[in-house]
Amino acid sequence: MDTIIILDFGSQYTQLIARKIRELNVYCEIHPYNKIPQLSPDVRGVVFSGSPFSCNAPDAPIPDLTHIKGRLPLLAVCYGAQYLAKWGGGVVQQSSTREYGRANLTYIDTESPLLKGIAVGSQVWMSHGDTIQQVPSGYRCICSTGDVRYAGYQIEGEPTYAIQFHPEVHHSVDGLTLLRNFVVDICRCSQNWTPESFVETTVAQLRRQVGDDTVVLGLSGGVDSTVAAVLLNKAIGRRLHCIFVDNGLLRKNEFQNVLESYRDMGLNVKGVDAREQFYGALRGLTEPEKKRKAIGKTFVDVFDAEAKQIADAKWLAQGTIYPDVIESSSVKGPSQTIKSHHNVGGLPDYMKLQLVEPLRSLFKDEVRRVGRQLGVKDSLIGRHPFPGPGLAIRILGEVTPEKVHILQEVDDIFVQGLRDAGLYDKVWQAGAILLPIQSVGVMGDERTYERVVALRAVESVDGMTADWCHLPYDFLARVSNDIINRVRGVNRVCYDISSKPPATIEWE
Ligand code: XMP
Repeated sequence: MDTIIILDFGSQYTQLIARKIRELNVYCEIHPYNKIPQLSPDVRGVVFSGSPFSCNAPDAPIPDLTHIKGRLPLLAVCYGAQYLAKWGGGVVQQSSTREYGRANLTYIDTESPLLKGIAVGSQVWMSHGDTIQQVPSGYRCICSTGDVRYAGYQIEGEPTYAIQFHPEVHHSVDGLTLLRNFVVDICRCSQNWTPESFVETTVAQLRRQVGDDTVVLGLSGGVDSTVAAVLLNKAIGRRLHCIFVDNGLLRKNEFQNVLESYRDMGLNVKGVDAREQFYGALRGLTEPEKKRKAIGKTFVDVFDAEAKQIADAKWLAQGTIYPDVIESSSVKGPSQTIKSHHNVGGLPDYMKLQLVEPLRSLFKDEVRRVGRQLGVKDSLIGRHPFPGPGLAIRILGEVTPEKVHILQEVDDIFVQGLRDAGLYDKVWQAGAILLPIQSVGVMGDERTYERVVALRAVESVDGMTADWCHLPYDFLARVSNDIINRVRGVNRVCYDISSKPPATIEWE
């Protein structure tokens, strides 16, 4: 597979470069600038990302250019452009104003293959504190903006290009054209990274990897584990044993509905009712992190007991996806743990299972495309993310079966309401939270003193940042009314209007 290597210098936009290149159906991989892999013959070009560093800083990241510059097509973005200019003897200095935001190209070298199809006036996105004052000889300016003379340059006699702006950011309106010019025309990559080709090569690879062995997989109802299971099912059929645990913290009817869908898809799946075990482990716990840990441990115990009953299990399949892989080897190191987001998996060492992770190279949107390619139902592919600890982190304080029941009813009215109003797909994630307080109300002639729930609906791309959704007032009014009328024990509904940051999506 033709491949582009992206060297990460710590920019917040590095993953976006990769996603844009993948959108062009070209395969690419991100590696830290200081851990350059051996470049196989499949590597057709290299991209340098931006960086929060100044190339003049004493601890600025310095890549080894030996096997790259002049040997392979290179596109250096932002910091990469500044670094290459300085490396060649140019001058890079702090600009008097931080150049941040939209700008327009006022000059374009129409001869440059990088800028083919892009016209003067094109809007680009700048985000840099340093600026290139002077380029070395042999570096030709290929575009400028009103404020930035060297918005882009090309090195004569070699396929090395550099740009000061960020083509990967949505506000650079011709950014995708520029990236296409680079990866398709300059690097000559074939655009064969498609869901079809992924399925075909992965199925063959899985067959080689696991041979005649038996594989165990924990399904969660989420997109990743579902797609991983369907891929493995295609590769090895009944030798894949799936385990779907009812932890008593799922949405209303979720366990039965999802289990049925799994069976309809032909998966070899066992449903395990472990509700009491989870409720027992959660009894008396009020601290969010303690609740998460208790759920994680109980999951391992339940899964372990089930997996032991599967004769000759040699492999554990997981739905790990590319952002998890990059995160664990990123330039900045694994990001600080704000919440311990345990996910399904993490089995004790003594189980001695080898890991198989068929989605390791995919971004979330690619997992969905592969899922569609494999015929997974839209109701499973398009569902909102749902946290591993489920409703336990949406019941603030101690979790009891009674509270789970109340919250399931509230959540069901809200989420079904979103579906009925055609809003479900416009929202990235939605759910209800049961608050640990009671409030006074009046129903008929009676004073009530009952529970309060909050509704949360957010827009997001990857859950790292999020905005609260501006749901229509009449929709909120209807849902609030339905909840208070239909769910016994709830007399007040609030809507959460906090964004992340500084809030988080979940309340615990
Ligand atoms: P926060 O609350 O950190 O949530 O803004 C970001 C995304 O992560 C999900 N989330 C979890 N997922 N285990 C999970 O598997 C967890 O413990 C957990 N906590 C939060 C959350 O639902 C949102 O999609």
